[in-house]
Amino acid sequence: MTGAEPTVLVVDDERNIRRVLRAMLKRAGYEVTTAADGNEALNIVEEDGPFDVVITDLKMPGMDGMDLLRALSDRFSEIPVVMITAHGSVGSAVEAVKLGAFDYIEKPFERDQILQVANKAVRTAEASQTHARPSAAASARFGIVGSSAAIDDLYAVIDRVADTPSTILISGESGTGKELVAKALHVESSRKDKPFIRVNCAAIPHDLIESELFGHEKGAFTGAVNSKPGRFELAHEGTLLLDEVGDIPFHMQAKLLRAIQESEFERVGGIRTIKVNVRIIAATNRDLHRDIEEGRFREDLFYRLNVVPIAMTPLRERSDDIALLVQHFVERFNERLNRSIAGFTPDAIELMKRYRWPGNIRELENVVERTMLFCDGVWVHANNLPDEIRLGAEDSQPPDHDLTSEEADAVAQTGGATDLKQAVRSEAQKVARRMITQALQQTGGNITQAAKVLGLSRKGLQVKMKELRLRQDSSQDTPETE
Ligand SMILES: Nc1ncnc2c1ncn2[C@@H]1O[C@H](COP(=O)(O)OP(=O)(O)OP(=O)(O)O)[C@@H](O)[C@H]1O
Ligand SMILES: [Mg+2]
Repeated sequence: MTGAEPTVLVVDDERNIRRVLRAMLKRAGYEVTTAADGNEALNIVEEDGPFDVVITDLKMPGMDGMDLLRALSDRFSEIPVVMITAHGSVGSAVEAVKLGAFDYIEKPFERDQILQVANKAVRTAEASQTHARPSAAASARFGIVGSSAAIDDLYAVIDRVADTPSTILISGESGTGKELVAKALHVESSRKDKPFIRVNCAAIPHDLIESELFGHEKGAFTGAVNSKPGRFELAHEGTLLLDEVGDIPFHMQAKLLRAIQESEFERVGGIRTIKVNVRIIAATNRDLHRDIEEGRFREDLFYRLNVVPIAMTPLRERSDDIALLVQHFVERFNERLNRSIAGFTPDAIELMKRYRWPGNIRELENVVERTMLFCDGVWVHANNLPDEIRLGAEDSQPPDHDLTSEEADAVAQTGGATDLKQAVRSEAQKVARRMITQALQQTGGNITQAAKVLGLSRKGLQVKMKELRLRQDSSQDTPETE
């Protein structure tokens, strides 16, 4: 099962149906295998290993679809099974789903139905390799996609602080979703029907920033032909996002602090004090602690902003979210570009998980769009990915001591970074590998027994082995470390 195409096993006793399905699925980018009944299907799965999806007829002589489903959910529970049922036989369709079928299709079926269900099955299995979540949409709150612990924490913070007046400072690398979170905080607050105003402090020339924030009166400076409210006034009763707040010039920082603290200010050239009710959210990709130390950022302003800190996790530290994010963007660009790409193959996702993503989710979004534009097939394959991602894993920094092959493997998987979190992860992976290898040796390579020894479910062990890229087929198990 190493081919780049997703694999499907079609099981039907009618040769013509097998042929039609084979042709449809082949054209849609699947590698298709067929079987005439449940027994043959089971033999094929046992020989070739798991398929990405099995599509089976319900009624067949010998071992029928239901028996096949039972046998598969026993031993290959990770394979999604799609049941084809006779028109009107809702009862057996429901029974099949209860037994664990991924979905069912009634006869007579249309091409699009089959492809939709098959594609959905493949993508769902892909996403659930890390977390059992059905689709990108189901794992997105506030438009923020993800199912990693980091994203769960983020949801929790948003829930807790959205509808409070507290000032929030969102920090994180470029493209990690700071603005997205700021919008979520606004939309989840009782200010949601009032304005959300963003001001990009990095983009405004220094001599204009005061008037941009606080407005000006007519004649206040050359070019001020009319009086004009600033962003603080526009955001009245709503939320003001001070984006790239680290770039605000030092001379403006004291005025900003006063405006935030007192909720009042004067327009440039004005004498009237204006009072506003604004919720402040600030965002930055700079290291403000360093800016404070180096005298570029006022410490008092920092503490005033940093009431609730939210630190965005870089994408490379939550690579488990990549499959979901890719799926999310595929759906979005299918709509926008009027395409019908089914998804990225597991091989492609695997490579993407090892890349460092310096531009984080924005970069991922661009990569998905670009590869979809240049992809002629239905699936985006590993070789459709840009060079930096295909070669990224080898680009890692040179290690400063001789790594064992396991360590090298673990480092390659994390994209070669050497910080603490990743060091811990790579150590944990080493331990897991060793324990699994020992358990397999103990049990003569029997996965079910090894799973018991380790206190895991059979499926859990298989998923773990896949994650650690330990071979499943050999019974005299030596881990694959190169
Ligand atoms: N978890 C997520 N789920 C879905 N889309 C996301 C997620 N995080 C970020 N994005 C998308 O990625 C892009 C970049 O996000 P955003 O503009 O919020 O990042 P940022 O941290 O403000 O970046 P910068 O520092 O460059 O301003 C946006 O298109 C955003 O919608
Ligand atoms: Mg931003």
